[in-house]
Amino acid sequence: MSLPQGREDPRARPRPTRPRAAAVRDSPGDALAAALATAGTDRIVYDLTGIAHQYDALLAELPGTRVRFALKACPVDDVLRSLAVRGAGFDAASPAEITQALHAGAEPGRIHYGNTVKSDHDIAEAHRLGVRTFATDSVEDVTAIARHAPGARVFCRLATSGQGALWGLNRKFGCTPDDAVLVLRTARAAGLVPAGLSVHVGSQQMTGEAWQEAFDTLAGTLTALAGRGIVPDHVNLGGGLPALGYRDRHGNPLDPPLDKIFTVIREGTDRLRGLASTPLALVMEPGRHLVADHGAVRAHVLRLTRRRQPDGEDAHWLYLSCGKFNGLYEMDQVTHRLVFPTHHAEAGRVRAVVAGPTCDSDDAYGGGRHPVSVPRSVASGDPVWILSAGAYATSYTTQGFNGIRPLPCVCLPGTVPDAPEERH
Ligand SMILES: Cc1ncc(COP(=O)(O)O)c(C=O)c1O
Repeated sequence: MSLPQGREDPRARPRPTRPRAAAVRDSPGDALAAALATAGTDRIVYDLTGIAHQYDALLAELPGTRVRFALKACPVDDVLRSLAVRGAGFDAASPAEITQALHAGAEPGRIHYGNTVKSDHDIAEAHRLGVRTFATDSVEDVTAIARHAPGARVFCRLATSGQGALWGLNRKFGCTPDDAVLVLRTARAAGLVPAGLSVHVGSQQMTGEAWQEAFDTLAGTLTALAGRGIVPDHVNLGGGLPALGYRDRHGNPLDPPLDKIFTVIREGTDRLRGLASTPLALVMEPGRHLVADHGAVRAHVLRLTRRRQPDGEDAHWLYLSCGKFNGLYEMDQVTHRLVFPTHHAEAGRVRAVVAGPTCDSDDAYGGGRHPVSVPRSVASGDPVWILSAGAYATSYTTQGFNGIRPLPCVCLPGTVPDAPEERH
């Protein structure tokens, strides 16, 4: 295998400049490419240097932000350790995730319980583990936090529409601005610290407008809270920052407007700070943005077939050893760039539906309806690299559906440059 020639290596430029979308999209980067090329068997590979650069680049775009990596996106110890060393904290969704974040070296003060869904036992366990900051979105939950984590800090999650995101995350989480005021007043009355507000604009958010709307909601709620004498010390913008390397269901690059998104976030943060009478910290909980483009899967071809479909049309199907249930859980919404051995470049291409190895019909790109271009000559056993596959791959994997085990995980230490000055 070889990389496309003439591509810019994002890591050759001074840190922490953000790599351009096209570079991320078209090339796995040297370290990942070398590891994939020498892999004789299937695996998922993470480039820790790439993840570190991504973290630094985010801080360069949004200086002073307290990054709390949403560890659900990549609960791999080496990845967590490499982020903790650089000063990142963690957004944990359960006591088990809190424990993992602590083992990775994070101080409890840099871990928050970011899940609004939790039992009394979960709250008490998190408190026992040293966590003192909790997300909430209901009077019931905040009352339970007051009982099982007395004196804790709480931030209230505001609902968003989820529009513009590939995964909206709406309805299940968040409350209205009016309810947020009620929830934080209840918190204060119960001896908790009404410390913040949060939003999540939906995962892989593709528009700047969604962030703009979130800032409008945050501004209105901060003003309403001020009227009740509640002055939060932070806003938490959640996750939603996009990965750059995904393709849509038809195999076309998604091209999220990341520059615009950062501009909206900078301007929105300034606006909120202008409203606040005391310093207002900015927290973010990126998940896929930090890891998606720095993880890739080495899989192999099971078979390229051609079969008549029920509609009478002939269709090619390319079955791979990796699919929805062992690493590519999000293949219903996005497609990943596939890189095949270079000798296939000579052969022609066909459009084929790409599918995983299991006996489940959901285990296919775009629900089995959207073919993408693949080499006509691929044969059973050929290696294939699946790019931008680092987010939610290890967490959304079954433990052996159809007897297929989770992919082994390899982290490339690489040369991780010094951590940036700013640590929050
Ligand atoms: C509370 C919370 N924060 C952050 C994230 C990370 O989102 P993303 O991967 O879109 O950055 C999630 C994802 O589900 C979440 O639920």
